[in-house]
Amino acid sequence: MKTLVIGTGGREHALARALSLDPGVAEVHAAPGNPGIADVAALHEVDPLDPAAVAALAQRLAVDLVVVGPEAPLVAGVADAVREAGIACFGPSGEAARLEGSKAFAKDVMAAAGVPTAEARVCTTPAEVEAALDAFGAPYVVKDDGLAAGKGVVVTVDRQEAVDHAAGCERVVIEDYLDGPEVSLFALTDGATVYPLQPAQDFKRIFDGDEGPNTGGMGAYTPLPWAPAGLVDEVLRDVLQPTVDEMARRGTPFAGLLYAGLALTSRGTRVVEFNARFGDPETQPLMALLDSPLSPLLLGAATGTLAEVPPPVWKDGSALAVVLASKGYPETSSSGDVISGLAEAEALDGVHVVHAGTARDGADVVTAGGRVLAVTAVGADLSLARAAAYAGVAEIDFDGAQHRTDIALAAAQGEIAL
Ligand code: GLY
Repeated sequence: MKTLVIGTGGREHALARALSLDPGVAEVHAAPGNPGIADVAALHEVDPLDPAAVAALAQRLAVDLVVVGPEAPLVAGVADAVREAGIACFGPSGEAARLEGSKAFAKDVMAAAGVPTAEARVCTTPAEVEAALDAFGAPYVVKDDGLAAGKGVVVTVDRQEAVDHAAGCERVVIEDYLDGPEVSLFALTDGATVYPLQPAQDFKRIFDGDEGPNTGGMGAYTPLPWAPAGLVDEVLRDVLQPTVDEMARRGTPFAGLLYAGLALTSRGTRVVEFNARFGDPETQPLMALLDSPLSPLLLGAATGTLAEVPPPVWKDGSALAVVLASKGYPETSSSGDVISGLAEAEALDGVHVVHAGTARDGADVVTAGGRVLAVTAVGADLSLARAAAYAGVAEIDFDGAQHRTDIALAAAQGEIAL
């Protein structure tokens, strides 16, 4: 099979690498890609937000399957254009991707499907915002009702900060605060059959101890040793399958990767958000532990034949990713800083360095974005996987590099209580 991965980030590197290791995949192409993806795929130029251009590239390369990584091309209708060109595409239609693209739409689908989520109000005026903040009380949860790359959400006890964030958005969703640990549970679906992946957890704040502003994600691990038995079955029954069924009932079936961001609250499991694509950085450790070949699962989801493919099987042990971000992230980012130590990190047992915001500058690999790398490692248990990943992090250096030192620490020490 010939595959084409669309995107430039760590998620796309992890997916392209998994496809390159799949014996059923003869060729991996990627566009636009990055220097890490170039190690496992042939790179091509394309504007990932141009549906016609992506479809034309897929036709020119005569690929059998296109895998669209990020949300923006999905919302722009890239998957629709590829399918219209007669090529299988992993990723939902533009209409179905509204599950991520519009928080208000997602709330409407959840209400219709009976999916447990935080109570929420959609607000467009300052008066509505004030009333909703009064109704729910602190901590305040204010979400930009649009694509914001995981950074459009403010959770704060500071009422003025909540009001200011709302004022900067056209439409906001204000929600009840959800207590309890968060879980990212992804599912592959063809619009009818749903195969959950292993649960993962990511770390959204920039600093240790979940301090500082939200980011796109500073690290992740899987599986979750503290997750209750039966969590995956419960979420499949109460969240994933009803959502997929409701989307089909509306005539806009969701086929691709349904990302359920969950909070395990004192009142039960609640959906915090849906995304319409693989999460980043959760995909990095998930792909490191996936034992099944990836291409049959993605092709099955893309072509309505997922039930004919065996469900995913996982390797024993744990995996985690630690993100290295550039100077100034998340407010800004720094480009052109020379990265050293990549080969040394890769040489460590069980360690793989996933590229996100990197570029080539002559013989050097340099920073080219906020999240630069995700040092990913596997180990027999979470402590060993952490030790390996942080040994990799210690090898890598660039001016202004920042990372969290506590990715999966509480879980490895058995300190996460439900
Ligand atoms: N891990 C957060 C995201 O992918 O949105």
